[in-house]
Order: sequence, then C-alpha cells, then structure tokens
Amino acid sequence: MKISVFGCGYLGAVHAACMTRLGHDVLGVDVIEDQVAALSRGEAPFFEPGLPELLVEGLDTGRLAFTSDAGLAADATVHFICVGTPQKPGENAADLRYVRSAINTLLPMLKPGDVVVGKSTVPVGTAESLRELIHGAQPEAELIWNPEFLREGFAVHDTLHPDRLVYGLAPTDAGRRAAARLDEVYATALGQGTPKVEADLATAQLVKVAANSFLATKISFINAMAELCEATGADVTLLADAIGHDARIGRKFLNAGVGFGGGCLPKDIRAFMARAGELGVDQALSFLSEVDAINMRRRVRMVDLAREVCGGSIVGRQIAVLGAAFKPDSDDVRDSPALSVAAQMQLQGARVTVTDPQAIDNARKKWPELSFAPTAAEAVQGAEAVLLLTEWPEYVVLDPVELRQNVTAPRIIDGRNCLDPVAWRAAGWTYRALGRP
Ligand code: UGA
Repeated sequence: MKISVFGCGYLGAVHAACMTRLGHDVLGVDVIEDQVAALSRGEAPFFEPGLPELLVEGLDTGRLAFTSDAGLAADATVHFICVGTPQKPGENAADLRYVRSAINTLLPMLKPGDVVVGKSTVPVGTAESLRELIHGAQPEAELIWNPEFLREGFAVHDTLHPDRLVYGLAPTDAGRRAAARLDEVYATALGQGTPKVEADLATAQLVKVAANSFLATKISFINAMAELCEATGADVTLLADAIGHDARIGRKFLNAGVGFGGGCLPKDIRAFMARAGELGVDQALSFLSEVDAINMRRRVRMVDLAREVCGGSIVGRQIAVLGAAFKPDSDDVRDSPALSVAAQMQLQGARVTVTDPQAIDNARKKWPELSFAPTAAEAVQGAEAVLLLTEWPEYVVLDPVELRQNVTAPRIIDGRNCLDPVAWRAAGWTYRALGRP
C-alpha cells in the first residue's frame, strides 16, 4: 500500500520506518530540511534504539523515502498525520498549528477513496473539524482517528507490536470502508491477534489523553505516598511492591522519584484540563491539576534535599547530576525533571555538572549555563553532592566504592529510587532518596 506520513519527528519517523518493515511503500514528509536529509541518509535525528537500523533497512528496499516536497505525497492513498501538538506558550492548551498546516497541505491532493489517519494527540473535537475540512475538499476521502501509544525508548517495538489499535470513525459506509483500508495497513499486527477497538471519533481522541492522564495519575499517586513516607519514616519502594502485588493495582508506573516529564504526559494533562474547561466540565478533571502539582513538588523537594545534605546551602557548592534525559533510553530533554532540577540548583548558586549517555547535546542547547561532562566518573570530580535523576542502566550499576575516589564529599541523592542504599551506605556514602529512609 502507498502511504504518506506527515511529520517525521519522534512519532512519524518511527511510524514511517515501521510501516516500510510491514511491506508498504512509504513517503515521509517534513518541513525541516535537515531532518529530511538525515533520515534520507538513514540517520535518526534523535536517539531511539533500533531506529537507525530500521531506517537503513527501509531505505535499502527502495520502499522508504523522505522529502520536504509534500506534493510527492499525492500518489499515496493512506496519509498519516504524525505532527507534534506542543503546549501553547503561556497557556495550557495544545498548539494545533502543525496539524492544521499538514491538513491544509494535504487537502488539494486528496483523491476519492483516500484515507487520512490522525495519529497526533489532539483535544477532543479536533478530528470532527478536520473531517469537515477533508469532506469540503474531497467528499469521497475519509478520516480515521488512530491514536498512537508508543513509548520513547521502545518506539519501534511498540509500533510493530502495539498492545491495542484504536480506530475512531464516522458510522457511515465510507467510515467502514476507510477502516477496512486501515486493517490492510495493520494486517500483520491484526493477524497476530492485536486487540482492535472501533469507536466514534470523540472516544478515539479521548482514549489517548485518558490513557496518559491515568499514567500520570498513577505516578503522582505513588509520589504523594512518597511524601507520606518521608513524613513517617516509611519506605515507598516497599509500599509500591506491596500494593503492586494486587493485580487490580499492578506494579507498573509505581516508581516513585523525581516524577514524570517528557513531551507527552505533562503537556497532555494540561491540554486535557484546558479542553475540559472549554467543554464546561473542568471540575471533572480538577484532580489533574493536583497530579501536576504533586509532580512539580518532587522537583522542588530534590533541590531542598540537595541543600539539606550540603548543610543548609548549595551556594558555591559543586554538585554532580547523573542524567539529563526525561527517562533512560532517550535523548529527549523536553520538560525533563533531571534537567529542571539541575538548572534550578544552578540558578540558586550551585556549580552544577551534568552528564548523560545520550542527551548532553540537547541539554546544552537548552541550558548552556550548566557544565557538562561525558561520563559519570568525570561529572562527579570534586562533587560535594551527587544527584541521580535519570535511571540509565549504567548509573544503576555504578560502584559506590570506586565512585567515592572522585568526590569531595560522599553524598548521594537517589532521585529514582534505583540504587541499593545498603551498598552505598556500606561504602561510606550519605544516602538520601525520595520517600525512602
Ligand atoms: C508516554 C506514554 O507512556 C505512551 O504510552 C504515550 O504514547 C506517549 O507518552 C505519548 O503520548 O506519545 P513517554 O513519554 O515515552 O510515553 O514516557 P513514559 O515511559 O510514559 O514515561 C513518562 C515519564 O514518567 C518519564 O519521565 C518517566 O521517568 C516517568 N515515570 C514513569 C515515573 O516517574 N515513574 C514511573 O513509574 C514510570
């Protein structure tokens, strides 16, 4: 099947490469020339395990190409919209300018029978208005809303082996025909028994933000419990293990620490609240502002803990931060808790050196005032406190005895509850963590 993918960022580049792997002819379209050039050389413009290999494989088949000339997408019959929907500056709402621009580019080239597939995360109601635009330009084209649930770091796996497929469609013959076309695109996953939920457009759009809101709530719930643990001397990691054994609760997404960040969870819960306000049901989501507040308090608490272990002030203190990415296996620093804590300590007078296996370039672009070191061993040179803020596997297995040689004062704050306190204390470190004695 001939497919076009509008937007070749984290979502679109992975989607284009994966659709090629599934046997389709794919053209990725993006307005950023450098990104198109990199992808056309088989280079991923961001760190995503498995993506470079998949790009090279796809380009070698001759069935995958990238372009900034959107007109070349006219040949395709299924068009995926994968552009970003960031938070509007100074507002909670989502910025839909890239979605509108992609649709406006696509409208003049739509043919009868074409299917437009929306994957971007949008405020509920967006798809309905896009469908009207599409029908205005080509009455015999149809829109399906098909949200994406991939996680950065596992994006290739999640795209090739999704845990569910959601189709939002109009209850018409044209809607059903479009769904049948999408079934052909996803034939491999469907053949492997991937569950499919067919719904109306509104439900499909809501599924995505509801899922991210639930995940954010789960993380903030355990971080709220961490606050209780701090006040009582209890251990949030044991608490999470114990409640997680209840299959109704589950242990996943109950890792307490410095909280959630990234390009999705924070902005999605805010855009969801903004949309609920427009719909007159803001009370239904007022709990999400508490979820947001709990999350942000963890960052403040990390800085306070650093101050505490440094004897009351971080001014002029040398502090090492392990991790800049918002989570391991990513070079994404968008709304990264790690980088935000590092920057806050620097602003409050500390001398902060940050290291990260993949995200240093992105972090430096955002916070050039910080110092950066290529390895943990170099970052902790002369440190009076070390903060572990992104649980990269290489940081989790750091040897406390060895690392102690490089620091001025052996104080570690485990912002992800991923170190063994017994081993660190035995090696002479002052060990502190969030929600753990
Ligand atoms: C998230 C969702 O998990 C995906 O399903 C969704 O498709 C994606 O957003 C999206 O909307 O595009 P992602 O942003 O890649 O994926 O990251 P997550 O793995 O969800 O982690 C988000 C944040 O929560 C990270 O900062 C992570 O460190 C934090 N986290 C996660 C915790 O603090 N504790 C946990 O137990 C789990």
